[in-house]
Amino acid sequence: MAIFETLTLAERARQLGNPEGAVGLAVADWLNENNKQANANTVASLGIEAGNRVLEIGGGSGRTVPDVISQAEDVHYTGIDISPTMVEEASRFNAAMVTAGRASFHLGSAECMPFTDDSFDRIFSIGVIHFWTDPVVALAEVRRVLRPGGSMLMGCLAPQDAPDFARPEYGFRLRDSDAWDALCRGAGFVSVKAETLESEQLTPSGAPTKRYMIRLAARV
Ligand SMILES: C[S@@+](CC[C@H](N)C(=O)[O-])C[C@H]1O[C@@H](n2cnc3c(N)ncnc32)[C@H](O)[C@@H]1O
Repeated sequence: MAIFETLTLAERARQLGNPEGAVGLAVADWLNENNKQANANTVASLGIEAGNRVLEIGGGSGRTVPDVISQAEDVHYTGIDISPTMVEEASRFNAAMVTAGRASFHLGSAECMPFTDDSFDRIFSIGVIHFWTDPVVALAEVRRVLRPGGSMLMGCLAPQDAPDFARPEYGFRLRDSDAWDALCRGAGFVSVKAETLESEQLTPSGAPTKRYMIRLAARV
């Protein structure tokens, strides 16, 4: 049995929102398997071009880095995450890329990022924005660090049939596509497209179940 299923609902939510210690690393392994397809699809859809600077928000243990960097020549990856355990693991896993100057990892939150204006060509994030307590502040930050003409792509849980652990009392703030659309437009993004995608996944016991994800795309 994966360690994730041995945790209480509250502990699952806590470890997903800020993975910590050995349990956090095990949850990150579980996530890497679970979100592999969503991450691959997102990176492939970003339209990364040669020389692009790409930011991932809440990249966890940094397993998307090789895929991001191989999308085009001379791409640079930057990751920011609130979890010291994840920043340390992402830096360890991608040590060669860090040494080569192709990747860097930062401890910090989407709501207050240590980057200058217009720093990135592409920004993406999977499974993170449903933890944002103040999406207005976070989206303003994303817009600030995204250069004019740049684009962002984010995915998160939708309210429909959400997993048991994704509750407000555990820190999840699930919003539907209309709410995300309005928040993005309010933050000044253009070409906003927020949609709910349906997919079939297996529950921990192996039974197929429907999952609903928000896919949020926008440009500056
Ligand atoms: C559910 S995990 C998703 C990890 C990875 N994106 C994936 O798909 O496997 C959420 C990650 O976002 C980070 N996180 C949560 N809130 C954040 C915030 N406000 N700013 C930056 N990172 C955040 C957590 O520490 C955690 O590593």
